Amino acid sequence: MADRLLEAFLGSAARLYGGEPVTELAHSLQCAELAREAGADEDLQLASLLHDVGRFAVDPREILDQKDQTRGAAAGARGHHEVGADLIAPWVPARVAWLVRMHAEAKRYLCATEPGYYDALTPGSRFTMTLQGGAMTTDDAARRAQHPWMADAVRLRRWDDLAKMPDKVTEPIEAWAPLLRHHFGRVRPI
Ligand SMILES: [Fe+2]
Repeated sequence: MADRLLEAFLGSAARLYGGEPVTELAHSLQCAELAREAGADEDLQLASLLHDVGRFAVDPREILDQKDQTRGAAAGARGHHEVGADLIAPWVPARVAWLVRMHAEAKRYLCATEPGYYDALTPGSRFTMTLQGGAMTTDDAARRAQHPWMADAVRLRRWDDLAKMPDKVTEPIEAWAPLLRHHFGRVRPI
């Protein structure tokens, strides 16, 4: 599984991240580095690195909220956050998979709770949010705020939003290989 993921990351260098000026790989690497620079613990860094794994490590027909709608989704397709979280869940701590699952919800949450957040989103991010259910209701946001990991989901979301810098230099994916191998280099658990 570690090799499969590393290969998928490398393959994601060939595609732009939706309508953004960065590749999918650069976006993941920037997001993980922003987490590390902010002093996030290792699991939160891992979740930041993997948050979009559902975009590039699975069959795109499984994904409902594709930025490129020309690829077409199969019946039963789900959001990339759900598919990605399910893919990694057997290998990582529950909090990591939960944070990956929540990164689209966190955008919906911030739209409901933070004035001006929606206006600051890029067009690509606004577009996928409509496919992900739009802004959360106030009641749902209040319920979400009670979750002990919600603050981490919001932090990840902010790094996700910032990780679109066209010329930012990051370490290569190989720098994260030891962490990926630590979790995914084992025979599949269960
Ligand atoms: Fe992202």
